[in-house]
Amino acid sequence: MVLAGQDELVSVFHSGSSATVHLHGATLISWKHHGEEQLFLSKKAVLNGSKPIRGGIPVVFPQFGVGPLIKSSQQHGFARSMRWTVSERKENKVKLQLRSDEQTRLLYPFDFELHLAVTLEDNLSVEFSVHNLSAAPLEFTALLHTYFRVESIADISVGGLAGCVYRDKLRDSSKDVEASSEIKIAGEVDRVYLDAPTSLFIHAPKKTVKIASSNFPDAVLWNPWIEKSKAMADFDDEEYKEMVCLEVGHVGRSVILPASAQWTASQTLSIAG
Ligand code: BG6
Repeated sequence: MVLAGQDELVSVFHSGSSATVHLHGATLISWKHHGEEQLFLSKKAVLNGSKPIRGGIPVVFPQFGVGPLIKSSQQHGFARSMRWTVSERKENKVKLQLRSDEQTRLLYPFDFELHLAVTLEDNLSVEFSVHNLSAAPLEFTALLHTYFRVESIADISVGGLAGCVYRDKLRDSSKDVEASSEIKIAGEVDRVYLDAPTSLFIHAPKKTVKIASSNFPDAVLWNPWIEKSKAMADFDDEEYKEMVCLEVGHVGRSVILPASAQWTASQTLSIAG
């Protein structure tokens, strides 16, 4: 792992639990719920600001994947690649912000301000908001690209998505309907579930992780499996066994935010069992 300087990290605490945010991308890189790490961070992750962080919760804005909303072929926008600043800090809460600047205007010709508020209680809440400071409407997609740490991918299942329509990114965006109430992952998966329920679950033998979202209508399920793991320089070949990405977002269609308006969405992660 390429390490971070201590001044790049902000930690919050609440009754035996902690969470740490890296200023690069406002990426939440650790959530220790009563001492037990819940997020996956690759041992090959680069934390020196030279590339997006492979793990934790990177913020995807203003373009999910590759697309027309920014003038770049860079995947998942630029917010995860920029240094955010701390705007508010308490024992169990930190708020970070990112403002448009000359660099962002080259890729995305708008003025905006982003806020990410992380609040640690027994649950972990992440609230993302976008404020349009331009005179024109702001168009974007956004997503919290959460990497969950699992003991063994063979032993988990993902619940809450039965009956949802999804685009399978591995099969050129065909539309399918999820048949399984407990999705097992036994190969590469890269799916965008549209209009997903607001409660999703990762069931593991000894616990269930609940992802409760607000104003994020869609959900992405991703595991790179064997070949893609080998192709990623910042991901160990075997790490696909230790993670699953279940990412809530607004990605099926874009948000069109009128001038001066603000848009907010959030997820709350909780552990049961
Ligand atoms: C997921 C996408 O959200 O992120 C996948 O659906 C992508 O297609 C994955 O491969 C990781 O993206 P990146 O840019 O962080 O390697």
